[in-house]
Amino acid sequence: MPLDKPKNAFSLPALPYAENALEPVVSANTISFHYGKHHAAYVNKLNELIVGTPYDGMSLEEIVTKSAKSDKDKAIFNNAAQAWNHEFYWHSMAPKGGEPAGKIKDALESSFGGVKEFKEAFVKAAVGQFGSGWAWLVKGADGKLKITTTANADTPIAHGETPLFTADVWEHAYYLDFQNRRPDHVTAWLDKLANWSFAEKNLG
Ligand SMILES: [Fe+2]
Repeated sequence: MPLDKPKNAFSLPALPYAENALEPVVSANTISFHYGKHHAAYVNKLNELIVGTPYDGMSLEEIVTKSAKSDKDKAIFNNAAQAWNHEFYWHSMAPKGGEPAGKIKDALESSFGGVKEFKEAFVKAAVGQFGSGWAWLVKGADGKLKITTTANADTPIAHGETPLFTADVWEHAYYLDFQNRRPDHVTAWLDKLANWSFAEKNLG
């Protein structure tokens, strides 16, 4: 008997670049597991979980923000938030990330005192996130940029903040390339892959 399908099934969104485009910082091997297995599993599980619930038919963002308020829908929240976080994460990286310039550079300078200061604080936060989670550059309600971390599937969009970009610090994001060296991974990620034009677009 075929499994029930939701009316509004989510599909795995396309990667914005080739699987080997982020090498050597993130290898094609890492992407093939991270995108093709982990991200895909969150999307598939979400589709299973929303069948017959009021969440079927909502946008992914709506599912995240609504299920965040309900303890009984924790599994739906975890899979929806991980689906949302991963799609946002792929766009948070660019094959030629470069250095921040223009409006985003000005915002980093006024919020953190400089690009170097921002990078040091971001690496420190990402390394200090105990266990699995995410490091984020966000715009708070007061318009100031901030660095936050979230554990497991948690996401700033469940807390009224506007994310500009994110680094996945679950081990599945870097273990094949950096093993336990999370600080080296995050430093290389910021220097080589951080997508500043995506961050600037999200700044609004
Ligand atoms: Fe991940």
